Amino acid sequence: MSEPRKIIIDTDPGQDDAAAIMLALGSPELEILGITTVAGNVPLSRTSTNARIILEFCGRTDIKVFAGAEGPIARPLVTAEHVHGKTGLDGPELHEPQMPLQPQHAVDFIIETLKREPAGTVTLCTLGPLTNIALALEKAPEIAGRVRELVMMGGGFFEGGNITPAAEFNVYVDPEAAAAVFISGIPIVMMPLDVTHKVLTLKSRVEKLRAIGNRPARALVEMLEFFERFDVEKYGSDGGPLHDPTVIAYLLKPDLFSGRDCNVEVETTSPLTAGMTVVDWWQVTGRRHNARVMKEVDAEGFFALLTERVGRL
Ligand code: BDR
Ligand code: CA
Repeated sequence: MSEPRKIIIDTDPGQDDAAAIMLALGSPELEILGITTVAGNVPLSRTSTNARIILEFCGRTDIKVFAGAEGPIARPLVTAEHVHGKTGLDGPELHEPQMPLQPQHAVDFIIETLKREPAGTVTLCTLGPLTNIALALEKAPEIAGRVRELVMMGGGFFEGGNITPAAEFNVYVDPEAAAAVFISGIPIVMMPLDVTHKVLTLKSRVEKLRAIGNRPARALVEMLEFFERFDVEKYGSDGGPLHDPTVIAYLLKPDLFSGRDCNVEVETTSPLTAGMTVVDWWQVTGRRHNARVMKEVDAEGFFALLTERVGRL
């Protein structure tokens, strides 16, 4: 096997963030250099606690967790306890994590890592608001040219929004940060709601995860059952969308997804559509292609991959 691909996971766990972290931990093709946390689904202190709980569920206390931004660059923080529960990780019984948080700030860890590792070797996987990445770019703009790729869960276009009619949560929370990332020149792959609304936690799929029976799988199933309760009410489907693990699945099996290179701009001024990702899917402007925007996914293949990898934990 070739050298594992080096990644930093920037996250606001979140049950679906937990699924993404577990998928990465179960995959030898990936080397997690660190996990950075950001305020999003719940405040920073809780996302930082949750990231460590997930690692402890998986027995992977060797992976370091760095806390980052406490809130968006230019706006008050909007959280999503109505989706994820009070802890952000409702479902399983949650313990106080034993492993420490690192003293270094997430933004400095991101900068330092990108400067230390050979240029073009580190991939950023973002599962929450893009605040940490935007702050790192502001502090050390030269890192943009060193990132291999940034694969993000965020945005939506044909599917509309999930926190307002126009905006997806991760981009809505910090539109200024997202806008800075889209103009940075970093090669971006975007997993919008158009993809994630097609990977539903159907009962048959959750049962396959339950059959694994190891501790991470048991915790994940309990999380998904909580998460799903909300989503079934909202989407009227047998199971809710499992957003964030699509980012990791793309690194492992890009052929599960299809999309096209587009220009993406983020609305930052209109109160009605703040955080909307305006995707030039039909190439009606001459604006620069700045992201590969995914639209289709092989949902069965995605769940088969997730189940197989969680089974290795
Ligand atoms: C995104 O928002 C969060 O609630 C989820 O964890 C996911 O990252 C979906 O819009
Ligand atoms: Ca998330």
